[in-house]
Order: sequence, then C-alpha cells, then structure tokens
Amino acid sequence: MQFTKNSLFFPDQNLITLVSVDSTNRYAKLLVSNSRPVADGTVILAEHQSAGRGQMSSSWLSETGKNLTFSIIVHPFHLSPDQQFKLNKVVALSVFDLFAEMNLEVKIKWPNDIICPEGKLGGILIENIIQGNTLKHAIIGIGINLNQTEFPDAAGSAVSVRQLTGINYDLIEVLNLLLFHFGKRYLQLKRAEYGLIDTDYLKNLLGYNEICTYEIDGMQVAGIIRGILETGELELDFQGKIRLFWLKEIKFVHTGPPATN
Ligand code: BTN
Repeated sequence: MQFTKNSLFFPDQNLITLVSVDSTNRYAKLLVSNSRPVADGTVILAEHQSAGRGQMSSSWLSETGKNLTFSIIVHPFHLSPDQQFKLNKVVALSVFDLFAEMNLEVKIKWPNDIICPEGKLGGILIENIIQGNTLKHAIIGIGINLNQTEFPDAAGSAVSVRQLTGINYDLIEVLNLLLFHFGKRYLQLKRAEYGLIDTDYLKNLLGYNEICTYEIDGMQVAGIIRGILETGELELDFQGKIRLFWLKEIKFVHTGPPATN
C-alpha cells in the first residue's frame, strides 16, 4: 500500500523514508534545526535504526523492515511548556485507537507505553523543543512491534501484533491508519478539548482506580492510580496517602496486590 497524506489534518504532510538511520528522532531533530521550515505532520520512517532510543536512555530494538519505527514532527505552538503532557496523552491515545481498530485489547501504561497482557506492543518517545512560552517543535517517536516474531532478551517484555494474531501486516497500511488516528487526536488537542482527552486517557490507563503492584525504593507495594497531574506526574494512593511520582521513581510490576509469602 502507498502512503496517504493526511490532508484533513496536515495539508502539507509528507513522508521521508530512510533505509537506515541511527534514530528517526535524531534525524527529525536535525531537520527542524535547519533553517528550512518543516511541514507540520512530516513523518520520518526508517526500515532500520542503528541506535533507536527509548525512554530513560534505554535502547529501542527492532528487526529491520519488520516493525514501524518513525517520528512525526509537529509544531504545537498552541501549547505552553507546562502543557506538554497533553501531547503525550494524545499520542498514547492515537496508538491506543490504532490497536482498538485492530481489535486488540490494549492499555496505556503510564506515561505512554502501549501494552497488552502478553507484553509491550508499542513505545513512544517525545522530545520537545521549547522557545519562549511555547512548544516550537515536538518530535514524536513511535515504535510499534508489528511483524517481528522473535525478540532478544534485551527487548524486555516486547511482543508483536503478529505474535498475537498470526497476521503479517503491511507496514504502510498500518502507518496510514495510525496517522489518521493521530490527526484526529491532535485536532482535539488544537481545539482544546482537554476534558475529552483526559477522560479517554484515564479510561484506558492501566491501574486507574485499581490495585496494582509497584516497585518503589526497591520494595513491592500495593497502590492505586487516582489521577495524573497536568505535569504528567502519577498520583498514587499508597499506604493511605496520595503520593506523586515521576517515571524514574516507580515501576509497575503487575496488576493486583503484591504476592504474600
Ligand atoms: C520507549 O518505550 O522506551 C520509547 C520507544 C520509542 C521508540 C521509537 S522508534 C522511532 C523513534 N526513534 C527512536 O530512536 N525512538 C523512537
């Protein structure tokens, strides 16, 4: 299938396809740092990344040509730096919407992993370039495990859609679908439909109002997510109090309370 420009949401959108690159996010950052303007919604897609990056300085491992590894460049000047987590929410929701359309039952794992009971299907790395009081550019890196059938141990809990459904997917067809959902969600953000975005995010968030086990300071504890602050911090009901956490400070272990022994 061919790439379809998302004219409704991004009139000048174009696709740059690379056979090999270190990281599509890094390539996108270089592109916006050049003096030539980059159209809103531009997509950089790579068949292979030699240094794909994940959250918290991790690596993103993906077999050549099997999965979707790409970055979308947007210019969210309608957002102030303290609203950046809203963009994380709409990106996570657009990947969620894609999987829902593929009839897969997935959840958003705070802040923006897309997981199913078998493992992690997709990851998101957003890098913002701030100028004054606005987000000048956002580089939205997305990795979706689509057709890979085996993952190295270093890929952690990765699982692909093919492993779940047995279907081999057309990468561009799935990319088109995802960009459609992203366009729709991004429009909600532009229209400041924050109530809708927040409700949808919480509705699909793993562990929202449910007891789960988390690792905090090396200890496994029971906690219940009660909300997410505007800044993106997690509000966890833990030992009778609401405490706030950043990504580095807490790790999701499993649903349900800690095992007793
Ligand atoms: C994570 O879950 O840790 C985030 C993974 C993000 C991976 C994508 S693949 C395309 C883009 N380029 C990168 O180097 N990383 C992101």
